[in-house]
Formats: sequence, C-alpha cells, structure tokens
Amino acid sequence: MVRTFFTVLITAGATREYLDPVRFFSNASSGKMGYALAAAARRKGHRVILVSGPVNLKAPAGVRVINVTSAREMLQAVKTEQRKADIFIGAAAVSDWRPEVFRRGKIKKTNAPVTVAMRLNPDIVRYMGSIKGGRVLVGFALESHRILERAKAKLSQKNMDLIVANGPENIGSDKARITLISRDLRIKRLPPASKTLLAQRILDEAISLRNNGAADKTLLRRRGLA
Ligand code: C5P
Repeated sequence: MVRTFFTVLITAGATREYLDPVRFFSNASSGKMGYALAAAARRKGHRVILVSGPVNLKAPAGVRVINVTSAREMLQAVKTEQRKADIFIGAAAVSDWRPEVFRRGKIKKTNAPVTVAMRLNPDIVRYMGSIKGGRVLVGFALESHRILERAKAKLSQKNMDLIVANGPENIGSDKARITLISRDLRIKRLPPASKTLLAQRILDEAISLRNNGAADKTLLRRRGLA
C-alpha cells in the first residue's frame, strides 16, 4: 500500500563540544540543508521532528524542534524519538570528537602551549542503522577527495538506504551540487540547485524508497526471508 504521510525525524546543524564554559569544538555547518529538508517535508504535510544543534535559522512553522548542544545530547533526543519515525535523515554535522574533560571554570590563558585530549563521539546515523527496522535511513557524506567512493563506503558501513554525497564548497551556501547514491548503488548526479529544491528531491527519493519497501526488503533479507 502506498502511504502519503510519514513521520520524518531529521538531525540538523553542527553540534558543539565544550572544553570549558566559553570554548567549544564544532564543525563548519550552517544547518541550512537540514532545515530545508524539514521545511520540504512539512510542505508535503508530513509530521516533522527536527533535532537541531545551535544554528542561526528560524524553524519552519509546524515543525517540532528539539534543541540540543552536544553529540551526546543529539543521540539522546534521537533515541527518545526514533520509535515514531518512518524516515530518518541525518543532516547534522556531528562533531566527531569531544574534549575528554570538561573544565567547570574558564581555563586561564598562559604562554605555554595547550594540548587537549579528545574522545570519539557516538555516531547517530550508525546507531539508527543498527536498529533500522522498516525505516528508510538517509545520511550525508561531505568529502573533499574521492567523494563517491567514500560516500559508498559510508552508505554500507552505516546501513543507510540513501546517501547524499557533496563537497565542502556547499558549506553555508544557499545552493549546492549533490549526488544521490542508493543502497543498490544507483547514482544520480543532480544539477546545481538551491538547497530548497534539492531538499525536495532528497525527500521524494526517501519517500519512494519507503513506498517501494526498500527498507522492509532489507529487513527480510537480514532475517533470511527474502
Ligand atoms: O562524519 P561522517 O562523514 O561519517 O558523516 C556521515 C553521516 O553520518 C552524516 O549523515 C552525519 O550526519 C552522520 N554522523 C552522525 N554522527 C556522527 C558522525 C556522523 O550521525 N558522530
């Protein structure tokens, strides 16, 4: 049966990993693509839950926003909401590492060089891939070199259905050049366009995968039933 309305869970923006009350590590990401995806899904009448790192963007009307700061908070919010989701889109630029120790007081500046020990953060898309079920999972790969090859590797390592491959020139821009790669390694290079238009294309692709049962077939295959 073809369904028209879904619950779409989206992560957006960059996370912040604080070293002390005023200093943090983060990624260069405006959050524009994640917010454009939320707006596109809302325009089509879907229920949208947006888990967002700190951004300078206004949330689209009708979207439920959960504001978080760090990767661990983002994972916690996703864990709480994932049960409701038919489609999960990981558009956040999650910080790969966080400082091992958070200092409660501001660290005093001296002339000595500083070394910060960093610890690996949880991977939110990988977590969603590990509990996938019938959901369609969409992720992004931002790479400066060997973009398609690395995107394909991430697609399979994180158990995604669709990955959006793109380069660093898209950061902060209102326009983007992206390539879509699906689980069966079909490649679609889209002409450069606004993030608003591209978000619509990504969403259409995710919905068609959901309606064609790509995720359900994967689940059956894993259970040895197809
Ligand atoms: O950082 P990386 O290139 O591995 O990101 C690929 C995908 O995984 C993106 O969709 C990103 O949002 C997601 N990711 C995540 N949690 C991380 C790192 C990446 O959800 N800790």
